[in-house]
Amino acid sequence: MLPETAVRNFHPFTNYDFSNFYFGAGDDVYDTIRSFNQWWDEAFAGDYHIYREPFTSAPGTHISIRSNLGKQIDGLLNFSSYNYLGMANSPVVTEAAIEAIRKYGLGASGGPNLSGMYDIHRELEPSLAAFKKKEACTTFNSGYAANPGIISGIMRSGDTIFLDQYSHASLIDGAILDQQSQFPN
Ligand SMILES: Cc1ncc(COP(=O)(O)O)c(C=O)c1O
Repeated sequence: MLPETAVRNFHPFTNYDFSNFYFGAGDDVYDTIRSFNQWWDEAFAGDYHIYREPFTSAPGTHISIRSNLGKQIDGLLNFSSYNYLGMANSPVVTEAAIEAIRKYGLGASGGPNLSGMYDIHRELEPSLAAFKKKEACTTFNSGYAANPGIISGIMRSGDTIFLDQYSHASLIDGAILDQQSQFPN
């Protein structure tokens, strides 16, 4: 979804992305924010807005967005969604979701250990386990939440976590959270 102008201009700020601002140093927490804002202002001025452009359509094969300059753009090919199987906008799934919202309301309104576990969750987990031919399954509300949840749940003191330095941030955060010895390779 890179605007043609940015490709044409190929400005130096294209050498950066969010990950360059992940590890900040220095006593002032705002240091990282300042350098990010400086990069973002240049990126914005340079017509290089590949992040956070709001969709104005379902995340199907073709999508519509409102560009960060407020322009409505339709008919874009979608290479950036997790909707690989098209379930997010499948009429079968959306109808089932509407039915579930009518019955249960929107969202679990509680943590799963207290008041956020519903009968449909209890049905979903074993059917996902069966689908994946596994003994059991635990569901999380995002892939991000799954990794710190699992890592801190199964690792114990003295365990060692080996992580590739290009691992997803949620894996790194899971390891940091678990404060286990790490040997990034
Ligand atoms: C390996 C890995 N773990 C976790 C996540 C986070 O998943 P989510 O965006 O669903 O929170 C991603 C997302 O790209 C990922 O690639």
